[in-house]
Amino acid sequence: MIYAKISGTGSALPGTPVSNSELIARHGLDSNDQWIVERTGIRSRHIAAPGVCASDLAFDACRRALEAAGRNPIDVDLIIVATSTPDYIFPSTAAILQYKLGVSNDSPAFDLQAVCSGFVYALSVADKFVRSGSSKCALVVGAEVFSRILDWTDRGTCVLFGDGAGAVVLEATDQPGILATAIHADGSHHGILSVPGQISGGLPVGDPFLRMDGQAVFKFAVRVLSEVAQEVLDAADTGIDQLDWLIPHQANIRIMQATGKRLGLPAEKCIVTVDRHGNTSAASIPLALDESVRAGTIKPGDTLLLEGVGGGFTWGAALLKF
Ligand code: UT7
Repeated sequence: MIYAKISGTGSALPGTPVSNSELIARHGLDSNDQWIVERTGIRSRHIAAPGVCASDLAFDACRRALEAAGRNPIDVDLIIVATSTPDYIFPSTAAILQYKLGVSNDSPAFDLQAVCSGFVYALSVADKFVRSGSSKCALVVGAEVFSRILDWTDRGTCVLFGDGAGAVVLEATDQPGILATAIHADGSHHGILSVPGQISGGLPVGDPFLRMDGQAVFKFAVRVLSEVAQEVLDAADTGIDQLDWLIPHQANIRIMQATGKRLGLPAEKCIVTVDRHGNTSAASIPLALDESVRAGTIKPGDTLLLEGVGGGFTWGAALLKF
């Protein structure tokens, strides 16, 4: 039986951390560190310098993931980049990344747009490519520069997000790797988290900034995250007690705690990086994974549950042996 297994992880964060107080001072926000920490768990985030694009962060993350896997760019036969903040409208960030990495073998490269669920969606799609025999060595990436779509006068959203990228190398093997994935969408909720604008005639039409009904998102997220986690556990006939680590999308510490509680998972089994990264959308899960692997927290053979939720609304989960 062919499995898709993660053979290397990598990540990249731009510049130095920007604390809540620095951000508040920089943009003259009517906010304070205590509010942000208590409501979200966020203490700092990274903000890309002007000119640094999603593909630049993805490139650094992929180089590190390839090195960890002992692979070269020429080995890569599929690139999927999950992003809502691509370099261009087109071509895809994945195509630009393929060029920057020097993957010169004509293999497919495409972007996947599922906002904060993007990495779990991309992993699910790549798993199907690998298990069908279409890919032997895939790069699955989440890369974002969300700072570019924030309204710095909207204190309810601009303090929440950060920039970064994470990547994994996914390889075909006969050893158990990805055990189950589930992805879902319900477009009837598209209005509660969106950037409702577009470019036309050379100008933004509509609203080019991220808008969110925070409380509606919060309630929706807690419900679907616990449901989809249970769905993949059931699909792989795995009990919650067999789980070593939960790596949820890093949006808000209170969403993560509420989800863990619903699942009956001890709080110490939940990986948390939102305090240092903020919400990096599609990058948050692979960033948290790579940080934990490099810190020695996550070890080979561990059973991991990755799960995300985001605009669309979209949500999904992946259960895997690391
Ligand atoms: O990837 C998925 C993306 N998003 C999420 O997961 C976000 C989900 N939602 C949340 O995390 C929370 O709803 C927020 C953190 C966004 C907001 O927390 P909340 O507890 O739902 O606060 P709220 O929106 O009900 O606002 C409470 C008060 C309001 O003031 P009034 O109307 O009570 O006077 C806000 O104006 O807090 C005010 N407020 C702030 N105060 C200081 C909103 N943002 C700020 C701020 N600093 N940055």
